[in-house]
Amino acid sequence: MAVRNRIEVMHGVNLDQLGRRDPAQYGTLTIDQLELRIGSVADELGLVTRFFRTNHEGEFVERLHRVEGLADGLVLNPGAWTHYSYAIRDALELAGLPAVEVHLSDVDNREEWRRKSVIAELCIARVAGKGPEGYRDALERLREELSE
Ligand code: DQA
Repeated sequence: MAVRNRIEVMHGVNLDQLGRRDPAQYGTLTIDQLELRIGSVADELGLVTRFFRTNHEGEFVERLHRVEGLADGLVLNPGAWTHYSYAIRDALELAGLPAVEVHLSDVDNREEWRRKSVIAELCIARVAGKGPEGYRDALERLREELSE
């Protein structure tokens, strides 16, 4: 069987503003710096990454529609959409790939509304509050899943 090592890393709304957002919650890396870092961790783990970022919910949904066959697993940080976008939830279900939900900040210990994730039940794991290192956890978890 072919190696399953292709990971699509998807960043949603406002993540492109990292570096300008509250550093106490999100750190100081820009999205470009963060993605470079994720890419080199993935390299280390023998995974191949593709990155997608958008501020438009429909684009995020359409990417999920098209991702089957192009990736073997997903790392998702949909930003605020996480908490209420049933459209993204339904598209993720359609994608049918193992997915890990990642948040830079500790969403369970911030405002009440951030505790809810409408995608959590479709994800094999959720990592929050570990900053950029959380993406390493997510990639490791996917690698484990894909090697089974
Ligand atoms: C976030 C947490 C969300 O609540 C927030 O809306 C974001 C970023 C995180 O990475 O911590 O935009 O997903």
